[in-house]
Amino acid sequence: MKFPRAMKPERSDREITLDLTIKPLSPHFGTEILGANVSAGGDNVALAVRQAWLDAGGLAVVRDQDLATDRHIAFAQHFGPLFGNPDEKPLQDTVSIYMHPDHPEIYRVSNQVDGDGKPKGRKGAGTYWHSDVSFRERPAGASILSAKQIPPSGGDTIFCDQSRAYEALSETMKAILAPLHAAHDFEVAAHSQYTSRVLVTDDLEGGTNRALHPIVRTHAETGRKSLFVNPGFTSHIQGFHRDESRALLDFLYAHCMRPEFLYRHRWQEYDLVIWDNRCLMHYAIMDYPDDQPRYMERTTCIGDRPA
Ligand code: SIN
Repeated sequence: MKFPRAMKPERSDREITLDLTIKPLSPHFGTEILGANVSAGGDNVALAVRQAWLDAGGLAVVRDQDLATDRHIAFAQHFGPLFGNPDEKPLQDTVSIYMHPDHPEIYRVSNQVDGDGKPKGRKGAGTYWHSDVSFRERPAGASILSAKQIPPSGGDTIFCDQSRAYEALSETMKAILAPLHAAHDFEVAAHSQYTSRVLVTDDLEGGTNRALHPIVRTHAETGRKSLFVNPGFTSHIQGFHRDESRALLDFLYAHCMRPEFLYRHRWQEYDLVIWDNRCLMHYAIMDYPDDQPRYMERTTCIGDRPA
């Protein structure tokens, strides 16, 4: 589908031709955008991509973007303020070694080490179902991942549409969930994903990386409701006994795994993938060997307080 001419944003003083091709990635969510030049395109391209992303339920794959790091940051700022910007507290000390040394807004994902043996990025980042930074009072809105190097096969990322998952529940279950809140805690992932307790900081103990959010949130821009719990960071449902909480969370996670709510992204080099953590969770599959480099750079936008 060609981007309809009538829907194209106004041209700025720079002469920009927006000849975007926008195609669905799956019947219900996700869009593939071809013909965009995010690096040179300026505000008009960013706004068109942003709108297509919202219209597609919060997942957009912009092909062929060999983006310099500073251009990636400039583009990402159209989606919100960024974690890592100088005015913000760092995400957590556990990940600071993976941030780009010259650009603290960039989180690096890599299975490689440099000459000194230091990781070039977080190995196996996100190999569990999660919504980025859901343990903060203001969790992530958009995350934007730029694929610089991909293995010949493997390293796919799976996305789950938690709006459709919510909509498919019975009205009775929706009524049960409506008043409930769940606790999100970085420690949940720290225990399962980060091998050393030493890495967990005082900051975590102080509660900065814990937050209570509604189980069902309403998207501030689209008005759509979605489930907002994830196995990576959600510790329990408030007010329930532990086994009750476990049973309900396990039901919701099993429900979210229905194949019709999932899209599996097979990366192409220079894909720029934008996902909306307000309504999607994701899982990065680490099935590729260390001698096949995978290197990605991610910006993460600070979203609103879930409501
Ligand atoms: C992540 O940001 O969770 C990592 C995603 C990926 O590497 O595909």
